[in-house]
Amino acid sequence: MNAPAVNVPAPKAAPAPRGNRTRSGPSFDLSVWAAQRRHAVESALARWVACPDTRPAPAGLGEAMRYAVLDGGKRLRPLLVLAACEAVDGSQEAALRAACALELIHAYSLVHDDMPCMDNDVLRRGKPTVHVRFGQAQALLAGDALQALAFELLTPDDASVSPGTQALMCRMLAQAAGFRGMAGGQAIDLASVGKPLTSAQLHEMHRLKTGALLQVSVLMGAACGNPGRAAQLALSDYGAAIGLAFQVVDDVLDVVADSGTLGKTAGKDAAQDKPTFVSLMGLRDSQNYAQELLSQALASLRADGLQNTAALRALADMLVNRGF
Ligand code: IPE
Ligand code: IPE
Ligand code: MG
Ligand code: MG
Ligand code: MG
Repeated sequence: MNAPAVNVPAPKAAPAPRGNRTRSGPSFDLSVWAAQRRHAVESALARWVACPDTRPAPAGLGEAMRYAVLDGGKRLRPLLVLAACEAVDGSQEAALRAACALELIHAYSLVHDDMPCMDNDVLRRGKPTVHVRFGQAQALLAGDALQALAFELLTPDDASVSPGTQALMCRMLAQAAGFRGMAGGQAIDLASVGKPLTSAQLHEMHRLKTGALLQVSVLMGAACGNPGRAAQLALSDYGAAIGLAFQVVDDVLDVVADSGTLGKTAGKDAAQDKPTFVSLMGLRDSQNYAQELLSQALASLRADGLQNTAALRALADMLVNRGF
């Protein structure tokens, strides 16, 4: 599979000065940085995901796949991959593949999460959910096909990514998406409806169902380079903290935001009696906890061996202080 041109310009920001590493410097503009990278990701996804001209899929499957992936979403996981790759000065080509693979797994998880047998949601990314638009069988198959395509993207048949890196990336993504990651967390989520969880149980559920894919986004970005042990551990800690913070904020937004802003149905966690951080510790403490996790994430990035953490810092801040 030929790679779309990567064409990600060099980061505009200078490396953060050592004494000022917990704040994005005034020279770093996340919106400019993210717009450039989102553009590269959108073009790659448009070409790679069942493109009707070059890679058509049979019997309407391609349409459902493209509907699930294109034109929507914050693209946080791809941005984290690309930011981590830049922090270790890694290969942009490998990172673009990893970024798209993460988004495909994420999109597949949303398609299945919304189905009547799971959260039974009708709105996603401001549009009718995939099963509402295309039917349950097609939604199931679109999710299956997106998952498989993610691994195809990670294993190009040219020399652009070394066989060792390909195998490592596949292993990392498989673990984060599978029973020890997202799928396992979703199983706990469904089994927990109507049950109060302890703090430890809720942490574990969120770590798996959402945190694992966010953390592995950072780690796969790092795997596009050759970071030392300290840098790797720092990125792992950063990914764990923002991964958990992200789902805490998702739980908060389910309560405080409206469906139009979110692009998905608000208030459904309480309606479906799901255990969340808000149900465990209340709104105010959940918001404070998200800020505490943000501080932890930023503190992790002070490790040696990370070249440019401006984007990672700004993304962490955006992810916790977002309104949608
Ligand atoms: C929503 O994820 C599902 C969760 C893991 C909580 P996002 O909030 O990243 O969804 P999109 O990709 O922007 O639609
Ligand atoms: C979904 O969690 C997590 C995954 C899709 C793996 P939620 O059920 O809370 O996500 P939303 O709120 O529907 O986006
Ligand atoms: Mg769910
Ligand atoms: Mg849901
Ligand atoms: Mg939610």
